[in-house]
Amino acid sequence: MSFDVSAIKADFPIFDRTIDGKRIVYLDSANSTQKPRHVIDAMTRFMSEAYAPVNRSAYRLAAESNDAYEGARNAVAQFINAPRAHEVIFTKNATEALNMVAHSWGRANMQRGDAVVLTHMEHHANIVPWQMLRDERGIEIRWIPLTDDGQLDLTDLSAILDGAKALSFTAMSNVLGTITPVRRLTDAAHAAGAIAIVDGCQYVPHHATDVQALGADFLAFSSHKLCGPTGVGVLWGREDLLESMPPFLGGGNMISDVRLDGFTTAELPAKFEAGTPPIIEVVGLGAAIEYLSRIGMAAVRAHEMSLTTYALDTLHARFGDEIRIHGPSNVEVRGATLSFDFRGIHPHDVSQVLDQSNVCVRAGHHCAKPLMRLLGTAATTRASFYIYNDERDADALADALDSASDIFAF
Ligand code: ALA
Repeated sequence: MSFDVSAIKADFPIFDRTIDGKRIVYLDSANSTQKPRHVIDAMTRFMSEAYAPVNRSAYRLAAESNDAYEGARNAVAQFINAPRAHEVIFTKNATEALNMVAHSWGRANMQRGDAVVLTHMEHHANIVPWQMLRDERGIEIRWIPLTDDGQLDLTDLSAILDGAKALSFTAMSNVLGTITPVRRLTDAAHAAGAIAIVDGCQYVPHHATDVQALGADFLAFSSHKLCGPTGVGVLWGREDLLESMPPFLGGGNMISDVRLDGFTTAELPAKFEAGTPPIIEVVGLGAAIEYLSRIGMAAVRAHEMSLTTYALDTLHARFGDEIRIHGPSNVEVRGATLSFDFRGIHPHDVSQVLDQSNVCVRAGHHCAKPLMRLLGTAATTRASFYIYNDERDADALADALDSASDIFAF
């Protein structure tokens, strides 16, 4: 079956809208994706017909609400091939998920002098929590450097990992589009006696994900980058690790008892879901997973590889040396996220000119300032493609860049 982008696009009401009479060319999905009718309807239906608090009340409506919430947990577990649904923790976002690992697992397991290994292509969410832990208790942070074409330079991997307690890395860079060799990295971490924490924010929405095949110990990702709503993220963790970690946030739902002299924690997953969770958003995430599963993640990846090839070829053919696209050119090791410099024009100016044609891209440091410094720039323009984009959208980007060329002609 061929990948029918027109049919997929028709599932997203936002694309019915025009601005200044022109269609919207949405190329900012690495930032946040648009939402299909299936998700919008599932959330609306749930709020209209079945909403009630979860985990607290015994009436039938609450039981239905609970079933919807736990049903979404089962869907997430299946989507990433987690061995047990209670290993799936719902958080506010992926940033909170990564903070939970650094603060809860990290505080319980890392002392002064212990090392965590990160890479030079990490998002701030996988840097700052470790820096906070370093500032608090003197842990060491080591870095895996990059090759010139924006892949991980694994030449000295064993030495960098030697004696480390954790390796925390992205499975796909939100700037370079680089897909990292996850299994090789998790194997190397385990061989060194370290755990492997995978930031799957840019990977899970675009690939079939199997935490067991990847050899991950933790996986973090967000809902809003895979057609779901904002306000909910996921931390999957190995049961034994989650069991041995202290809770992250304290409050309702995460306890089995509270006395004047202390508390005992609830079982997983409640132990890490303090307070009223994002119930409606979790239901929306479940619907998003249902929607993507229906398309098939292998088909998503195949579509994006072909579209990335087209976009890279088109931009290079149209602009030659005037465009510098960061990251690997081999689509086997890159996703559909294209960060670039265009004729030295400031990315904010580029994005404003593109906006005149309703071409929506992100300009800035993409929450990866250390990587920007390595690239020798303060910002890039980033076009990121998803299931609802096609070759016309890549052409529209190229045409809009032509306008930027005219406006900023030297
Ligand atoms: N991490 C998101 C991005 O890269 C917000 O745009």
